[in-house]
Amino acid sequence: MRAIRAQYSRRGPVPETLIEPVEVELPPLQPGEARVEVLAAPINPSDLLTFTGEYGSLPPLPATGGNEGLGRVIEVAGDVDGLQVGATVLLPVGCGSWSTHLQLPARALVPLPEGADPVQLSMLTVNPPTALLMLRQLVPLQAGDWVIQNGANSAVGGYLIQLARERGIRTLNVVRRASAVAAVREAGAEHVLVDGEDLPERVAAIVGKEPVRLGIDCVGGLATERLAHCLGEGGILVNYGAMSGERCMISPRCFVFRDLTLRGFWLAQWFRRANPEARYELFAELAGKVASGALRARVHAVFGIARIRDAVAAAARGERHGKMVLCPNV
Ligand SMILES: NC(=O)c1ccc[n+]([C@@H]2O[C@H](COP(=O)([O-])OP(=O)(O)OC[C@H]3O[C@@H](n4cnc5c(N)ncnc54)[C@H](OP(=O)(O)O)[C@@H]3O)[C@@H](O)[C@H]2O)c1
Repeated sequence: MRAIRAQYSRRGPVPETLIEPVEVELPPLQPGEARVEVLAAPINPSDLLTFTGEYGSLPPLPATGGNEGLGRVIEVAGDVDGLQVGATVLLPVGCGSWSTHLQLPARALVPLPEGADPVQLSMLTVNPPTALLMLRQLVPLQAGDWVIQNGANSAVGGYLIQLARERGIRTLNVVRRASAVAAVREAGAEHVLVDGEDLPERVAAIVGKEPVRLGIDCVGGLATERLAHCLGEGGILVNYGAMSGERCMISPRCFVFRDLTLRGFWLAQWFRRANPEARYELFAELAGKVASGALRARVHAVFGIARIRDAVAAAARGERHGKMVLCPNV
């Protein structure tokens, strides 16, 4: 059987110039393997950093793009522990999901509820757990507590708003442009602020004397410090991304006089440390929410694999209305 993969064989600063669709012959299926038709796979900022070489872990070259996605089993060989042909499955992290078809060990595939929106389910592995874990693990938050985040119109930002609301946690949502405000409100946010020098004053006018306990930064540069100035004494600021391409800048005055802590979060590290039960529980919870439509991300456009270069170029541009998603077989 022939498959088309979106491959790259070198790294460089302009991702869309590196990737191209390549036709390959798949080898015969081995016992314990499943052949999967890929239904959908998003293009995330981490995919772009993998092309440029700036990500925390890099696959050997040549590589197929795509870290996460959703597939349908079309063939199995040997003992596959109950995995059925036709099952909708979550693909394993880092599998090179920008392919029309993949051959994978059946035990690496996680069956998901049938009948749900495949594009929404394809984004389950990376951004929803990032949002949930940052809300759960960094500060013991109670209903009514305040959290501030920037990049609030990102997919992670949208999931975080929805998950915080469920728990009664109040969010302050910072975007870098006024044109993003309406979309964040649609995701359920009450407070949306455009970033700027006077952000701390505008936040103080909303929260009064109540402390903002957690700041969540995916931008870096001076945006990090602007969030820091919004936190209450002893607050925790977590950086989990660098959308500005700049290092986090923060004055020693924030650390010393206001006792703030700046720390990082990387989902890959959680995956390495969490035991199988913890992973199962987290994904069972999130899969249910995404499958039911209770948790979703905005999608800007869907592309077939022949247009992988356009898709990657579009994903690298700012000011999108949501994710660029590859549906390789459409
Ligand atoms: N640490 C982890 O484990 C982990 C896991 C998942 C995601 N992440 C990180 O989380 C962040 C969001 O990911 P996502 O998939 O949710 O993103 P996304 O949906 O693709 O959205 C990208 C966001 O970045 C903003 N942005 C783009 N260029 C920017 C710039 N130059 N300065 C400031 N903001 C800019 C966009 O704002 P505009 O719409 O205004 O362009 C948008 O809010 C990324 O940094 C990603 O790498 C980290």
